[in-house]
Amino acid sequence: MSPDQPLVLGIETSCDETGIGIVRGTTLLADAVASSVDEHARFGGVVPEVASRAHLEAMVPTIHRACADAGIALRDVDAVAVTAGPGLAGALLVGVAAAKALALALELPIYGVNHLAAHVAVDQLQHGPLPEPTVALLVSGGHSSLLLVRDVTCDVTPLGATIDDAAGEAFDKVARVLGLPFPGGPYIDRSAADGEVVIDFPRGLSSTRDLQRHRFDFSFSGLKTAVARWVEAREATGEPVPVADVAASFQEAVVDVLTRKALDACAESGVEHLVVGGGVAANSRLREMAQERCDSAGVELRVPRPALCTDNGAMVAALGAELVSRGRVPGLLDLPADSSMPVTDVTAGVR
Ligand code: KG4
Ligand code: ZN
Repeated sequence: MSPDQPLVLGIETSCDETGIGIVRGTTLLADAVASSVDEHARFGGVVPEVASRAHLEAMVPTIHRACADAGIALRDVDAVAVTAGPGLAGALLVGVAAAKALALALELPIYGVNHLAAHVAVDQLQHGPLPEPTVALLVSGGHSSLLLVRDVTCDVTPLGATIDDAAGEAFDKVARVLGLPFPGGPYIDRSAADGEVVIDFPRGLSSTRDLQRHRFDFSFSGLKTAVARWVEAREATGEPVPVADVAASFQEAVVDVLTRKALDACAESGVEHLVVGGGVAANSRLREMAQERCDSAGVELRVPRPALCTDNGAMVAALGAELVSRGRVPGLLDLPADSSMPVTDVTAGVR
């Protein structure tokens, strides 16, 4: 680790995780996360006002924890990076306000960054410099996107996205139908391990006709409804619902579509690298099938460890450090929090 490399503090508050990461160059020094997920569990989804309040309460203690973990003082930091969007408006505002306060008080450059590009950049902390171009598959509770990344600091092209539910949202909703706790992804993953793929659930936007208009888009709402109808029909017979088999069959349908479209995107773009990120990247079957299909297509697969896949501050710091290293212009102190920030904008508030 060279002391010449920029020391960057990253702040993430786009959803329900208050993340503070500290990175020097591509070396991770601290990744402190305070999650409000338990406060949302009884609602079955993230409640924006509850998330914003939790960010406010967690911000200062989490910054202190990250600095202590990294063994640095705030005055050592060279730049501040913060998620400017996309995400929940009120939640983003808390992070952006905190970043501006730090930048102003410590006289530091500030980078307002795109959450999706940060999910891609984080891989550098584990696997070294990002190969470019790369295709990225980002799957979480809030987003499901396929991106072509030519330069993670300034050239990100959307290839496709979900047209209804995000992949993680589908996991969460199906878990609810099966009586599993929130957030449902990990519970479906575990339950599926005891089941078998015996039900042929639909693969969204995969018919020849759909592929003409939605080659790299996803749809999980029809699948979710198909699972609910199947469970209702089984309950009507009075027989027990085979939860593990339904979980395995549902998971297989999601993972099949995600990995097939991701590999098709690599083939069509002539790209030999695939990065997978977002909370759903923790899914064991997704990792397995992605590896199998990448191996047979000659594509190098990179999936960061689960703690780096879910929302965290390290990903924001990683992208911030890359922006500093590549000499990108920082944002102005009035940079906005933009809940619907387009994926093509890697940074915000640069004039
Ligand atoms: O990236 P993340 O922490 O937060 C955002 O939504 O941005 O992702 C959380 C999502 C939830 O929907 C959760 O159910 C899903 O990731 N998830 C999983 C697994 N672990 C987390 N989905 C499937 N399998 C898993 N093992
Ligand atoms: Zn995310």
